[in-house]
Amino acid sequence: MGKPGAGKGTQATRLLDYYQLKHISTGNVYRDEISKRSLIGIEAEKYIKKGELVPDDLTNDIVREILCRKDYPNGFMLDGYPRTETQAIALNQMLASLGLALTACINVDVSDDILLNRMAGRRVCSTCNATYHIHFHPSVIPGVCDVCGSALIQRADDLEESVLNRLRIYNNKTRPLLNFYQKQGLLQVVDGTRATDEVFADITKRLGEPNHGNDQIEPRN
Ligand code: AP5
Repeated sequence: MGKPGAGKGTQATRLLDYYQLKHISTGNVYRDEISKRSLIGIEAEKYIKKGELVPDDLTNDIVREILCRKDYPNGFMLDGYPRTETQAIALNQMLASLGLALTACINVDVSDDILLNRMAGRRVCSTCNATYHIHFHPSVIPGVCDVCGSALIQRADDLEESVLNRLRIYNNKTRPLLNFYQKQGLLQVVDGTRATDEVFADITKRLGEPNHGNDQIEPRN
């Protein structure tokens, strides 16, 4: 978890590789659907462009469908979900019905002024979703993805008006979830203002050694 631009996606990419987890990013799902011009994408785009949340029912259905595939032998990482209390309750119900539980809830903590700077300089790959920053994490060839060679673009919701709206919605709807997960003993707060490598080292220290190839991550409760 974390505010928009806190570095969730950046850390997720590295953690997935390290722990061999399945990535469940609702933001990426919506961006893929938008680029395909599917019915879900056309509906989601109306909200995302303005920096608003896509309705809970649609988002919960998408996550439920992915979790029910059970194609995550080493576990999964939720990135950008849940974002509202309704989603958090729905997630708990989904996990209970699948006999699973969360291992941890990592909150990447960053102040608003840093976030605005990060999002203004963010560029993403139009094909594989890899994320860059024009100053902090530039691609080798400007405007070209290091991973797949496609063009880098600026996200429509990274324009300042949309970013401010996303921050406002985060404070109203998502921040209260930190308390929700703290009460369950799952919350770990990580200082996200440090360099990417330091944030990654801190998270892996808290989560422990990878366990891939062995048993599925044990439910905590
Ligand atoms: P989503 O894609 O989840 O966006 P978000 O939460 O707003 O997060 P971001 O992707 O903007 O930021 P991030 O924290 O991943 O930061 P990043 O690693 O890129 O959702 C988009 C939209 O979809 C939502 O607004 C909503 O409309 C909809 N949606 C998604 N999920 C939903 C849900 N559950 N319910 C309803 N609607 C939903 O980093 C940012 C920049 O900083 C990058 O340029 C990066 O290179 C740089 N950077 C990262 N870490 C560092 C560092 N340590 N130092 C310096 N620079 C850094």
